[in-house]
Amino acid sequence: MEEFAKLIIDGKEITLPVIVGSEGERAIDIRSLRPQTGYITFDPGYGNTGACKSAITYMDGEKGILRYRGIPIEQLAKSSTFVETAFLLITGKLPTRDELTSTSVYLNDASPVHESMKAFYQNYPPKAHPMGILSAMVNAMRSFYPELIDLEEEMNNTYLRLISKIRTMAAMAYKISIGQRVIYPRPDLCYCSNFLNMMFDSAVVPYRMDNDLVRALNVFWILHADHEQNCSTTAVRVVGSGKVNIYSAISAGISALWGPLHGGANQAVIHMLERIRKDGMSVEQCIARAKDAEDDFRLMGFGHRVYKTYDPRAKIMKEMCDIVLKKVKCKDPLLDIARNLEEAALNDTYFKEKNLYPNVDFYSGIVLRAMGIPTDMFTVMFAIGRLPGWIAQWKEDWIDPEMKICRPRQIYTGNILNEYVPIDQREEESSVS
Ligand code: SDX
Repeated sequence: MEEFAKLIIDGKEITLPVIVGSEGERAIDIRSLRPQTGYITFDPGYGNTGACKSAITYMDGEKGILRYRGIPIEQLAKSSTFVETAFLLITGKLPTRDELTSTSVYLNDASPVHESMKAFYQNYPPKAHPMGILSAMVNAMRSFYPELIDLEEEMNNTYLRLISKIRTMAAMAYKISIGQRVIYPRPDLCYCSNFLNMMFDSAVVPYRMDNDLVRALNVFWILHADHEQNCSTTAVRVVGSGKVNIYSAISAGISALWGPLHGGANQAVIHMLERIRKDGMSVEQCIARAKDAEDDFRLMGFGHRVYKTYDPRAKIMKEMCDIVLKKVKCKDPLLDIARNLEEAALNDTYFKEKNLYPNVDFYSGIVLRAMGIPTDMFTVMFAIGRLPGWIAQWKEDWIDPEMKICRPRQIYTGNILNEYVPIDQREEESSVS
């Protein structure tokens, strides 16, 4: 049965349709609001605005639920692999064994990058941030692999080519930044182990693969694979809505993810923990500063626009800390600081009243550190994980007949009608006044 909302504006009553989602979420469809009333809505940051209908990921922020195509994140983290999860997100179903095999073979075959792409890296300053390099390199892929939009099979190959090569380009950025020889992908290694080998193998010390760390990397990337309409996914959809090629839309997503309020938070958490340790700040001092509106100190890795309870991914990431640290036989003092901070914040009125809980970034940096990933590469790791979600969302937007180019309205607050005054007259008037 159709539902409606009534609105009374300037004494006139209008009726607006209500859209109901498969989990019972409701939205007022305001597409006829301006034509009927001349009014628009106002929602900076879009916290209360649905930008699209989507069948990819479901989140319940109050209950801490996260599902990819209906499957709970906990089950995928426990039993799936990143490649299988990527297939699920992009196609909408879990792969058959043959589909999984052919996908893995294609990912392996597509993993080398065009040799002339290496020249791009040589000319970056040594301290260039790998997120800036990655965003540029993904955009550059359009020049090397022009995708043929009207061929379904070619688009599937484009998706897999992106997922495969982003790993190689990320590892190249790291190797070149430390002045080491680039390690090429190996045909005998799976997606995650190939990445670890490209990152850490060297002519001097061959990398010794550890299956527990390969599993941890699968779980890390599964947890990051999609998250409905977050900032970077919205960037991918907005840029994609202009019908630009997929590489440029994904490159925009990488740039949006880089920010410390978004994917850059995992790097910001480690910097925060290191600063706390270096300055000898007590947990009490941290909590007090995080609550002080006059102080720009924030508890990075805490709070979320949607989750008003514990981020289900943070729970799994926290468990991974113990597993990975035990495996690498390392005790990370930052983990103790993180745990004490979390305990204090979860028991603090300010954080409880504002529903501020650890999010996926709070513990992820500690897991990555334990795996030997350098801090500057943390957000790159997030980007590699999020790529299947960006692709799935871009594809859903591209084929949705209801979707149009994104062009929001505004409420103008600038000068009312003004006259142009030639510079001579302006100078004359200012000298007189
Ligand atoms: C990700 O959207 C997604 O799904 C993102 C993501 C994904 O998978 O794509 O989940 C990944 O980006 C996780 C978030 C990582 N960012 C951080 O950890 C940075 C620290 N967190 C905050 O900056 C903040 O919580 C945000 C950006 C995450 C959410 O910001 P909102 O929803 O705009 O909330 P807000 O900034 O308006 O905060 C509401 C109140 C404010 O106090 P008042 O103005 O009401 O007095 O809570 C306070 C804020 O000052 N607050 C914090 C805080 N986060 C919010 N106070 C101290 N420490 C914090 N971390």
